[in-house]
Amino acid sequence: MKRILSCMQPTSHLHLGNYLGALKNFVALQDEGAECLYGVVDLHAITVPYQRDGLANATREIAAAYIAAGIDPKKSILFAQSAIPAHSQLMWLLATMSQMGKLERMTQFKDKAGKNKERAGLGLFAYPVLMAADILIYKATHVPVGEDQKQHLELARELASTFNTRYETDFFPQPEPYISGPATRVMSLRDGTQKMSKSAESDLSRINFTDDADTIAKKIKKAKSDPDVLPETLDGLEDRAEAKNLVNLYAALAGITNEDVLKEFAGKGFGDFKPALVDVAVAHLAPITARMNELMADPAEIDAILQAGNEKARAMAGDVLSEVSEIMGFWKGS
Ligand code: TYM
Repeated sequence: MKRILSCMQPTSHLHLGNYLGALKNFVALQDEGAECLYGVVDLHAITVPYQRDGLANATREIAAAYIAAGIDPKKSILFAQSAIPAHSQLMWLLATMSQMGKLERMTQFKDKAGKNKERAGLGLFAYPVLMAADILIYKATHVPVGEDQKQHLELARELASTFNTRYETDFFPQPEPYISGPATRVMSLRDGTQKMSKSAESDLSRINFTDDADTIAKKIKKAKSDPDVLPETLDGLEDRAEAKNLVNLYAALAGITNEDVLKEFAGKGFGDFKPALVDVAVAHLAPITARMNELMADPAEIDAILQAGNEKARAMAGDVLSEVSEIMGFWKGS
């Protein structure tokens, strides 16, 4: 049976990359009727400096974004990672099967640790092992993510295999990455060679979930583009990183293919294309932002949804952890 799991970190506000690369697919998979679990990974969020006073609310905010984007808590389980101890417990067990060399080669670790690798925290280093535990603790089969998580997913697959081989079992399924749609890697609006990210210095580089219509319009109008018109075929977008990114954004927001976008806009310049992109972005995001603000005004409702989800997730994760303990030979009394 298909079991979907994915998570997002409560580190500052969500942006369009998170939405188009991941969250939109979370909703689509739920609506296809799959069994879905979506988590807010607060234990991952503390691997970099964070605001203690803002963590709980940032966790609520991700849950609110899930719901506002179309996740239905009656169909999908929403949970907060730190409320389910089995994630960290399985992480320790998997850590004993993880090679440091592999963790050191993780792109995200290299980016975040920077030049000062020796002083990077153990949490940042072991981040992908906790992510593998998030996935395997529910025996998830499919994991919808953006392209930047592919390497982490590969590690989760390897750890599932290592466990199965070492303990001569087929206990863990191989989790499949689900990386789908025209916007699996949304780029910065200021530089088409850089990923849109929460940590980029310039706020003009990203569209946040909390941006209002005027801000979205301003950011798209200021987005880097080029003086050429849009081509008739996708080949014409090669070597035009910014143009390609804006076309991808339009396609993903409008729910059409890149080819369809070019059919409509071939021969037109960015003076015509950008206002159309503003319209589609605002039409798509405004209702989500409005719903999110409504939910954030009533934290009790989100808290109740998370608490109910945590209970279900805790039961599922607890069962898997018991089986893992048994397979690994831990004492359990008589
Ligand atoms: P996080 O919180 O950084 O990002 C959440 C999701 O958004 C995707 N994403 C993007 N997609 C397209 N273009 C972009 N510019 C872009 N930026 C971010 C990410 O790929 C991700 O799917 N390690 C994960 C969180 C995590 C997780 C898990 C995910 C922890 N445990 C278990 C899946 C399963 C992360 O940092 O996501």
